[in-house]
Amino acid sequence: MTGPIGVFDSGLGGLTVAAEILRNLPDESIIYLADTAHVPYGERPLAEIEGFALGITQYLINRGAKVVVMACNMSTAVALESAQETFPDVPILGVIEPGSRAAVMTGNNAIGVLATTGTVKSGAYRRAIKQLNPGAVVWEQPCSAFVPLIESGRAESEEAEAAVRKYVEPLIANGANTLILGCTHYPFLRPAIEKAAPGASIVDPAEETTSELRKILSERGILAEPGEVTEHQFIASGTTDGIAKLGSRFLGRNIERVDIIEWGVDLEPVRNSKCRMNAER
Ligand code: DGL
Repeated sequence: MTGPIGVFDSGLGGLTVAAEILRNLPDESIIYLADTAHVPYGERPLAEIEGFALGITQYLINRGAKVVVMACNMSTAVALESAQETFPDVPILGVIEPGSRAAVMTGNNAIGVLATTGTVKSGAYRRAIKQLNPGAVVWEQPCSAFVPLIESGRAESEEAEAAVRKYVEPLIANGANTLILGCTHYPFLRPAIEKAAPGASIVDPAEETTSELRKILSERGILAEPGEVTEHQFIASGTTDGIAKLGSRFLGRNIERVDIIEWGVDLEPVRNSKCRMNAER
């Protein structure tokens, strides 16, 4: 037993990453934390998100996580570097670098990034894509309506389709031929996004993140053994509603229990004074 993979997000979105991990690494156990006390992260101050992300990372490490996956673009944008610096003994991965790499690997260089306001403000995708392909043209589109629609179970509504058209069509009209789902909630809207962007490559960073995760676990010799007993744990800091329902659907297994934790009691925001806040440079 090598310990579980810690995965977290503001809410349900990170389940799209957890599902991809379990599909590809079925012997692994997951400990998933949804910060439903603070969802949505997208419009909050970046320094506040950094405190949450570091606090959650600390909590998952205390619970025995052998690796932590920030299945949240906002957290990745503002807290990945400081988390890696604060917790040097545990590998910590984000989704932005893998997502950018997957987009560049399509060979297309007109890339639209669909993301929350905070992720767009951080400029993290633009920087990562330009570093990999300086010639790429990048549009970052904040999609503030998406997360509330998804968290309230309206991902398949007319309203969601209309919101998708509003954000996606201008990118396609500008010439984008690749779209990154730059928020882990957005794969829930994938059918509507594909409909609004016929012919464009749609990139879900979860796939490349999982490949990177496998590589790290294998290099460190901490991959779970085939046949190891798996045990998945689900934790929420506020409402647990959607997690059991959608989680069961996405993971293809029944989530019977979601444990509730409380900020200020079970975990605390962590401030890293050495933090280099990308967006505030
Ligand atoms: N799913 C998260 C992300 O990838 C956060 C969404 C939100 O809470 O605004 O950024």
